[in-house]
Amino acid sequence: MSWFGKRQPPVITDARVGDAAGLAAIHATGFERGWDALEFERMLADRLILAHLARPGGKGTPTGFAMSRLVVDEAEILSVAVSPAARRAGLATSLLQHHLGRLAAAGARKVFLEVAEDNVAAIRLYQRHGFDEIARRNAYYARAKGPPATAIVMERVL
Ligand SMILES: CC(C)(COP(=O)(O)OP(=O)(O)OC[C@H]1O[C@@H](n2cnc3c(N)ncnc32)[C@H](O)[C@@H]1OP(=O)(O)O)[C@@H](O)C(=O)NCCC(=O)NCCS
Repeated sequence: MSWFGKRQPPVITDARVGDAAGLAAIHATGFERGWDALEFERMLADRLILAHLARPGGKGTPTGFAMSRLVVDEAEILSVAVSPAARRAGLATSLLQHHLGRLAAAGARKVFLEVAEDNVAAIRLYQRHGFDEIARRNAYYARAKGPPATAIVMERVL
């Protein structure tokens, strides 16, 4: 889907502590155990954390974000999420491109992440951004229903 003629193109900016509630609301739509606004406030206040969010036309409620922790030259993507109504329109792609560019500019040489092995959407997204599987962690994610899910650890060299 193209942004043209359908909805306002996303504007991506740095996320700040005041965006915590908006990010928590998006996160809650994408994960079984959402992080609350206080957790986001704490993370957004951490100088090792880089976070970017998107707003349609640069205004109003955020519709997606990407957040990482950068330690020296290694970054870990902590979360990427897009509101359900804004999915499959390239928003996570734009966010990740922006986010990875900023991580590289801040000194990151390697980026790691963990993703549940049944999260096909996220795995495809990361593969399309050059991430490769480097390890698996069995029974890593507790699930309300069914057995815990395996985590795939992925890496990209920037
Ligand atoms: C994963 C997520 C961030 C993708 O956001 P999005 O804005 O819809 O992604 P994009 O539109 O940029 O899609 C990029 C590519 O990812 C893959 N993808 C995205 N959603 C998909 C789906 N539902 N099924 C299969 N592949 C999917 C596709 O390869 C897609 O490219 P295409 O549309 O050209 O086929 C979104 O589904 C989400 O927020 N999920 C819940 C939270 C989550 O799982 N985050 C990642 C956990 S680490």
